[in-house]
Amino acid sequence: MDIVNITVIDREGEEKTLEAPTDMNMNLMEFFKSYEYPVEGTCGGMALCSTCHCYVESEHDLPEMGEDEEDMLDQAFFVDDEKSRLGCQIAITPELDGLIVKLAPSAE
Ligand code: FES
Repeated sequence: MDIVNITVIDREGEEKTLEAPTDMNMNLMEFFKSYEYPVEGTCGGMALCSTCHCYVESEHDLPEMGEDEEDMLDQAFFVDDEKSRLGCQIAITPELDGLIVKLAPSAE
């Protein structure tokens, strides 16, 4: 199995480095859920709910945002123009190794 390490900072500020598979067609939202982080992923990864909103804290070169992701983040709370992304729109690829990502506060 191909594995990358991703560091997640949860809403309480706790930091953990976790393994994520690159060969399972997984995205960051699904990765958060697989480790039981409180990320609802209500829309199932369609860029329609922003419950997977997170901040990219490392200097990784991630794929550009699509229009759906930009539109959804326009309506989300606590958006950071530099760091905010929707986890469901970021596929787990080998390029993500060493990524540091922080969960955005829950909108509720
Ligand atoms: S899971 Fe709904 S926007 Fe990502």
